[in-house]
Amino acid sequence: MVSKWIVGSAWPYVNSVPHLGNLIGSILSADVFVRYVRLRGDEVVFVSGSDEHGTPIEVEALKKGIEPKKMTDEVHEYVSKLFKEWRISFDNYTRTESPIHKKFVRDLLLKVYRNKYIFTQKDIVPYCPKDGIFLPDRFIEGTCPYCGYTQARGDQCDNCGRLLHPAELINPRCVLCGSKPVFKETIHWFLDLPKLQDKILEWVKSNEILPDNVKNFTLSWIGEGLKPRSVTRDNKWGIPAPFPGAEDKTIYVWFDALLGYISATKEYFENKEEAGKWLNYWKDPSTRVVFFIGKDNIPFHSVIFPALEIASGEDYVLPWTIAATEYLLYEGQKFSKSRGIGIWIDEALEIMEPDYWRFALIRLRPEQRDANFSWKEFYRIINRELCDDIGNLIHRILSFIYKRYGGIVPSKGELDDVDKELVEKIKNTVDDVDREFEGVRLRIALEKILSLAWAGNQYLNTKAPWDKIKSKPEDAATTMWIGINLVYALTVLLAPIIPGKAEEIWSLLNINEPLWKQGRLWSIKELPISPGHKIKKPYPVFPKLPKEFTDPEYMRKIIEDAREKAYAKRPSVLK
Ligand code: MF3
Ligand code: ZN
Repeated sequence: MVSKWIVGSAWPYVNSVPHLGNLIGSILSADVFVRYVRLRGDEVVFVSGSDEHGTPIEVEALKKGIEPKKMTDEVHEYVSKLFKEWRISFDNYTRTESPIHKKFVRDLLLKVYRNKYIFTQKDIVPYCPKDGIFLPDRFIEGTCPYCGYTQARGDQCDNCGRLLHPAELINPRCVLCGSKPVFKETIHWFLDLPKLQDKILEWVKSNEILPDNVKNFTLSWIGEGLKPRSVTRDNKWGIPAPFPGAEDKTIYVWFDALLGYISATKEYFENKEEAGKWLNYWKDPSTRVVFFIGKDNIPFHSVIFPALEIASGEDYVLPWTIAATEYLLYEGQKFSKSRGIGIWIDEALEIMEPDYWRFALIRLRPEQRDANFSWKEFYRIINRELCDDIGNLIHRILSFIYKRYGGIVPSKGELDDVDKELVEKIKNTVDDVDREFEGVRLRIALEKILSLAWAGNQYLNTKAPWDKIKSKPEDAATTMWIGINLVYALTVLLAPIIPGKAEEIWSLLNINEPLWKQGRLWSIKELPISPGHKIKKPYPVFPKLPKEFTDPEYMRKIIEDAREKAYAKRPSVLK
């Protein structure tokens, strides 16, 4: 049965270039998942875009003396291009300044208002007497009243993940000058989360697929009692609030960006001139909506997004699951822009081709707990696992067929137990990988694929076709027939993770149809490459990294160079 999926990855803010931790947390994971779903034969729409509004962007543009729109235009273009280079296969990578999005957000929030889930209330907002400005959420810091973390921000604590109101902070201070803010009264429009709480809770409890980290966080937050959350802000930069009397306010960035998952689907089909088709996805209860996010985004996706859907009364389908990664560390430390710790996605491409990064990042995906990127481990993953265990195995089989059989897959003989065991393993791996992918355990799925490669190496060594070709030629021929189908299996299974390399092997396999055919995943089980099929002249598709990659001094230099090259290509607003 064909399923329909909407896959969304968190929308990056466009005041900086994402780093490797951001990429594996949302966009790269989503891409691998989407590619798997396509191979399976399901229908999927993959959306995301630039999150352009919000105060940090406004303030940064102001500091640079440019219009925020100029800044987001340039960064959006730059980042979109980088995602293409990373082989991210979005169906629609749009932006929150898109007219379709802006209209969609205003219309939807107006429905929420008419359904009486929005009310006005006096609010107190922090004001810095020294700087003479109202402090936006991220420009006030203090101690978290829940966990005691001393650098909680006005809207959220980075340590325990709870959403906060700036007035809750203990010892609040202005991020710009450090002085103690005063609180002034203003009026805001609030989303009535307490009124929605039961319905949200019902959905969370009945959802059996949500992973533990998301479910537990959400249940405990709801358990503390949800508070109303203000939907409006006094910023200039943003979507104008649609509520009567709120003409001079804008919409809080999260209430705007989250709705992008829906508006981007709408835009995708409108661009394809299938205007109403987005409703076939968002209003069909069998559609599976999946979000890929970092763990700091959990409350927005597991509470605020469903709350907006429910409050709109539109019956949009609720999330099927939310995959929230833990953090990726860089050589044991947190990524830090200000301290220059980590690798950013444009720098990474100056060092190496994207598929090597993709493979290593999925291998290290922080699925259950934080994971650490180290160059030492990266070297091992690439050289040992990707180049030796997989690449060399593939090359040995292809070149044996090319040299010994003139590139023509030999006819098979009787299968013995060892042969049958590997054939079974190939078939079982398809099911294993399918199960792990569907459960959004991408790292485990890759482990299963690797285990097939290990079995394949073992098989080849046991069978030793290089000896048998003289003593027992039918035996060697059978081994190569199974071998070429093993290469087929590995190529298809790895395609979501290393799409570029998979295409290269695909072309050596010389198969007429495209690799990206719906249902391709299942064809593995048929061992579809038959005797008589002709392959192309092979070459090693996975060259190894030089030994110097283990030398920290050498790597320091490589990173420095990459950083310089990437910096030179960045738009001026990012410098
Ligand atoms: N821009 C946010 C961040 O980088 C993520 C927004 S996800 C969205 O943390 F769904 F709301 F767009
Ligand atoms: Zn906290």
